[in-house]
Amino acid sequence: MMKEKKFEFEYEVYDDISQLTEEDAWLLREARAVTEQAYAPYSNFHVGAIAMLENGKVVAGTNQENASYPVGICAERVLLGSVATLSPNVPVKSIAISYNSAEGKSDHPISPCGMCRQALLEYETRTTKPIRLILGGMEGRIYIIKTAKQLLPFAFTSDELI
Ligand code: THU
Repeated sequence: MMKEKKFEFEYEVYDDISQLTEEDAWLLREARAVTEQAYAPYSNFHVGAIAMLENGKVVAGTNQENASYPVGICAERVLLGSVATLSPNVPVKSIAISYNSAEGKSDHPISPCGMCRQALLEYETRTTKPIRLILGGMEGRIYIIKTAKQLLPFAFTSDELI
């Protein structure tokens, strides 16, 4: 017999940064600021990501592009690589992600690409702790997602490899 199933998840929406907790607002401000360090001469789309780790460390990542386009790396995976190297196996409490685009406005949240969702899920699995995502542009509304894995239903995981 056929069964229909539904996937849904809850996330928080805020009008702007003034409604966030002090720590979340600080993380988002840092993510906005670090977009300056992105190397994005091809897309002109500058992404900044800031992680707050459970041990209180703060780690940053930005997108790093390349003349050979597919070689470029998103801010989120640059960040996770640094986290895993500087503080291996330390859970990540939250990641704030922001962006600045030379072409358009930065007044709404962006969310991680599919490849970064897979990488975020791997880090959650590795540390067995959820990663909260704080998503917002340079201004405007903000989304808070409780755990990155919600962004990737039906994910492929290491469970299949055993
Ligand atoms: N990018 C990120 O760094 N993170 C995202 O969540 C979306 C896209 C980068 C990749 C590329 O350098 C540029 O933004 C445009 O796609």
